[in-house]
Amino acid sequence: MTDQNKSAEKPWGGRFSEPTDAFVERFTASVGFDQRLYHHDITGSIAHATMLAEVGVLTADEKDQIIAGLDEVRAEIESGAFEWSVSLEDVHMNIEASLTRRIGITGKKLHTGRSRNDQVATDIRLYLRDEIDVIAEELTRLQAGLLDLAEREAETIMPGFTHLQTAQPVTFGHHLLAWYEMLVRDAERLRDCRKRVNVMPLGAAALAGTTYPIDRAMTARLLGFDRASENSLDSVSDRDFAIEFCGFAALLMTHLSRFSEELVLWTSAQFDFVDLPDRFCTGSSIMPQKKNPDVPELVRGKTGRVNGHLISLLTLMKGQPLAYNKDNQEDKEPLFDTVDTVKGCLKAYADMVPAIRARADNMRTAAKKGFSTATDLADYLVKQGVAFRDAHEIVGKAVAFGVAQKRDLSDMTLAELQQFSDVIGDDVFDVLTLEGSVQARDHLGGTAPKQVRAAIARARAGLGD
Ligand code: ARG
Repeated sequence: MTDQNKSAEKPWGGRFSEPTDAFVERFTASVGFDQRLYHHDITGSIAHATMLAEVGVLTADEKDQIIAGLDEVRAEIESGAFEWSVSLEDVHMNIEASLTRRIGITGKKLHTGRSRNDQVATDIRLYLRDEIDVIAEELTRLQAGLLDLAEREAETIMPGFTHLQTAQPVTFGHHLLAWYEMLVRDAERLRDCRKRVNVMPLGAAALAGTTYPIDRAMTARLLGFDRASENSLDSVSDRDFAIEFCGFAALLMTHLSRFSEELVLWTSAQFDFVDLPDRFCTGSSIMPQKKNPDVPELVRGKTGRVNGHLISLLTLMKGQPLAYNKDNQEDKEPLFDTVDTVKGCLKAYADMVPAIRARADNMRTAAKKGFSTATDLADYLVKQGVAFRDAHEIVGKAVAFGVAQKRDLSDMTLAELQQFSDVIGDDVFDVLTLEGSVQARDHLGGTAPKQVRAAIARARAGLGD
């Protein structure tokens, strides 16, 4: 990038009597980061020029020259040969100056009836719309992978936790579907956010609209927007759509971070519930035995910056008077980093989830510890006519006995169990087993393998499989 391009004349230089201070030039420039908008900037300019020709502001020949010139600029940028200039401040003026160098005076007509204020707002929306579509696909891939894994593990029994203490047995498939549900809500939020991204600000010009006979509906159609925005002041200042996207991203990352926390716990020697393939882990330079779950750890860590970006954008907007302010230039880096981070984390997860292997034996052994079927015994007593609070008390005593004896309820003899209540019969062992426990929770949203399979079938239909 050229730093001090003294020869480049500022497109706004007319009323200035001295050159911009060298530091101020660098300080105010955004081209270092907004050049990533080049493709959408050119697409927006082509639509704008096409519309200007349709309404008679440009001739057909001028429009053709502009489009041909812009196509050349795009090709040069994509070839890597384009010289970005800091003194031309941003992506918009760099591209316009290059166009004018190529086609002469006609290039200077492109900016008729628009401003960088509505131009940049349009560019970000076009950019974000494309990225949302990529992210939506990646999210669907992760969801499909979770469903496949849940199907494989529909019968696998693990301890379910509350307070991270053993609570009741659940199936691993059921646990995976809890993760799935979070992603369903994320996908819905993303689709909803896209509706408000896909509104076109172009035509608002600097803030008040323009005196040319523009056809905003036409430009909106050419660019695939659902509609043109209603109010010119709001159009150039609104960044709600970016905040909403970051809100979606912060929640998605919060979910991925929770998954990550569980994977980190479960891959530890202490839990040993799952195995991640070596290709998703790294080693230690000093401890030869280590296999670290770096991908989940990093995803958990990256959640911090995405949450931070949401707060950055909210704070960026809270003090701004209408309409456009230079503050808005600060919207891009948080938004871009959010997009990049979410895409990276989703890719890593969508690749990794299908490769998760359950250690069913360890899960089962863990589920048998901690008296996970104690509630089942209480429910059994209730079905024999004991009031639930009394049943709770009886089972509590049986558990205390098991703790002292270091034995699970299902390992006690009938006579031992009958010490606590004489309504207990031989059939009690049907409910004290892990299988009996999970199968008994056989209703919509329950952990029974049959219900897990039904939930997977409904989810697949919802995913459009
Ligand atoms: N680089 C600017 C931004 O990102 C473009 C709009 C500048 N408009 C202006 N009037 N200075 O917001």
